[in-house]
Amino acid sequence: MERIMDLARARRSVRSFDGTAPNAEEKEKLLAFAAAIENPWGLGVEFRLLDAAEHGLSSPVITGERWYLGAKIKAAPHMEEAFGYSFETLVLYAHSLGLGTTWIGGTMDRAVFGRAMELREGERMPCVSPLGRPAAKMSLRETVMRRGVRADWREDFSALCFDGDFSKALTEAEAGDLAAPLRAVLLAPSAVNRQPWRMVRQGRSVHFFVRHARGYVSAAAGDLQKVDLGIALCHFALCAEELGLAPRFSLEAPALAAPADTEYIATYTLA
Ligand SMILES: Cc1cc2nc3c(=O)[nH]c(=O)nc-3n(C[C@H](O)[C@H](O)[C@H](O)COP(=O)(O)O)c2cc1C
Repeated sequence: MERIMDLARARRSVRSFDGTAPNAEEKEKLLAFAAAIENPWGLGVEFRLLDAAEHGLSSPVITGERWYLGAKIKAAPHMEEAFGYSFETLVLYAHSLGLGTTWIGGTMDRAVFGRAMELREGERMPCVSPLGRPAAKMSLRETVMRRGVRADWREDFSALCFDGDFSKALTEAEAGDLAAPLRAVLLAPSAVNRQPWRMVRQGRSVHFFVRHARGYVSAAAGDLQKVDLGIALCHFALCAEELGLAPRFSLEAPALAAPADTEYIATYTLA
């Protein structure tokens, strides 16, 4: 893969495709890469490449797509974070091959996608994605959608990163060599671009929290904002690994007061 930071910067949701299908070599590469993906929770994610015409798949915000990327996971604690981490790992790889994707957790017919994925009792499919080559020009629908969610906007570093506890903002300069993996987090995609991740630095550890908003939890998808946190952790870990910072994952909530609706998710400690 290219450098994670470059991929994180270059990636955007692609909602207009050029009407061609990924070729056999691309599909083979994606499936081989997907088979080796792991996440820190050790929960398996099963990926499938789905022919849109064969399974009758579509999304009202997507045009020109011929294939979808589907994935499912067994219902379990932390399944959303694990799903987010693994799916984003594959999304970044797809982008490194020149393929476009869009995380879809809302704008789809879940029954149709569930049938295509042979979703069984006890399995969950929080999101899917179209997969193909970006069209030369964005559709009107895509332009309107991007404007609606202010898709190019990201929060400032110091609005989401904290020093020691939630009472003190962390600046990029103060973050030192932790700044790059934190910047990779801030570039990540999130449901409705809410960017619900909050990070607290304590020494060489970064504690990740989710700031919950209403309307992101359902029986079928679980908590989409926890999926967002899995994506954030993926960007952080892949970037830190690439920089030789040897990220170590743990699930030990620090003893610090969190603001309302803010829940601890996980910690990475760097070398
Ligand atoms: C968990 C999740 C669910 C999403 N669901 C949808 C969706 O249902 N429909 C859609 O058009 N975009 C969806 N998105 C894409 C976001 O709107 C997009 O990532 C965000 O606006 C930032 O834009 P960007 O990806 O181009 O950087 C979803 C993203 C995530 C991470």
